Amino acid sequence: MSARPQKTTHRGDEFAHRRAALMRHMGRDSIAIVPAAPVRRRNNDVEYAYRQDSDFHYLTGFGEPESVAVLIPGRAQAEYILFVRDRDPARETWDGHRAGPAGARRSYGADDAFPITDMDEILPGLMENRTKVFYAMGIYPEFDQRVVGWVNGLRTQARNGRHPPQEMVALDQVLHELRLHKSRAEIGLMRESARIAARAHVRAMRFCRPGRTEYEVMAEIVHEFRLHNADTSYHPIVGSGANSCILHYHENDQRLREGDVLLIDAGCEHRYYASDITRTIPVGGRFTPEQRAVYEVVLEANRAAIAKVRPGNHWNEPHEAAVRVVTQGLVKLGLLKGRPSKLERDGAYRRFFMHRTGHWLGMDVHDVGDYKIGDEWRVLEPGMVLTVEPGIYVPVGARGVPKRFHGIGVRIEDDVVVTRTGAEVLSEGAPKDADEIESLMAAGHG
Ligand code: GLY
Ligand code: MN
Ligand code: MN
Repeated sequence: MSARPQKTTHRGDEFAHRRAALMRHMGRDSIAIVPAAPVRRRNNDVEYAYRQDSDFHYLTGFGEPESVAVLIPGRAQAEYILFVRDRDPARETWDGHRAGPAGARRSYGADDAFPITDMDEILPGLMENRTKVFYAMGIYPEFDQRVVGWVNGLRTQARNGRHPPQEMVALDQVLHELRLHKSRAEIGLMRESARIAARAHVRAMRFCRPGRTEYEVMAEIVHEFRLHNADTSYHPIVGSGANSCILHYHENDQRLREGDVLLIDAGCEHRYYASDITRTIPVGGRFTPEQRAVYEVVLEANRAAIAKVRPGNHWNEPHEAAVRVVTQGLVKLGLLKGRPSKLERDGAYRRFFMHRTGHWLGMDVHDVGDYKIGDEWRVLEPGMVLTVEPGIYVPVGARGVPKRFHGIGVRIEDDVVVTRTGAEVLSEGAPKDADEIESLMAAGHG
């Protein structure tokens, strides 16, 4: 991502607000330490494209690696300190612009900033006399060692009158609660991310036809993402025929055949916010009767689940609604036999619908935030964003199932915001009505 300051719609203060909210939760006798994501090597001296850590981005908007943010609530000289790479004209020729400490103060609102190379010298002094250290242990093991080293260093010097922190607190618990509730600006970004991904799905529907390949469809999708300054938020799943029943299919290397369905699960990341959309279409432009029958059940489940997304309902209600519709549908299709209420209770639907109906969505595709509070499902509140993605998968060779259903995998996945009065579907730009898909594909083929 760009190393330039992130100036986003009325977000000038957005990052400052988040830091202030976190510091209120932390209380005065504490310090938080938040490292940037490390650079990851792909092989030899080639690196993966750098992606800032979501927590770090959330608090700083600062896109450079080798940086550490420190929050010290109530500290008079400086509450917000950034350690960053120094300016270095030679390195910047190779790797691009660096803000440097001066830029970190000027453009990113740091009260103070230092070269990252001075951190070992400065940070222990900042931790001294603070009782609690808020830190997310276990995400970056190498950095964990440094934090432990600083604390232990202070402990061994306690006899010299230095005061080491007494308590490590899981920063992720507090921070992820904040991240779960999206601001207006964040929802604006997620709307845009979903809009781009929906356009990519429409493009794929127009492009799809027998004889083309899964990877060509993926290329169309990625092309649309890149056209809008977005990239994949996860490896796209483009599975035709039998592959539509492989939940995490990723080879995307088969030729598309008339009479098969094509399941496309593809979302983008735009300015750090993810979308995650699945559509299932007929390769030849018309669903077979069996495909359509399965499709209509999944679509009804998708709609029933979305209808349960509203404030006051709990996390599992959309899933329960989807399970009910899918179970009844499977009985109607003849794929399950028995009383729907009993099949539901026994979990018989899991043979064909083996995943949950959704997950939180945000900067991470499977975003942070607890699904339960204690033993209870969490209650939905305005500003939470989730996916709704029921599916039915009938693999080739499914025993006791008529052959004409084999190799039909259908998932319909939308991105949904809980609003004050109900829900907003961010991914509605991608058609999901079966007739609408067929006419869009017919036009595409024209
Ligand atoms: N694309 C991953 C998921 O749907 O959860
Ligand atoms: Mn998905
Ligand atoms: Mn998903």
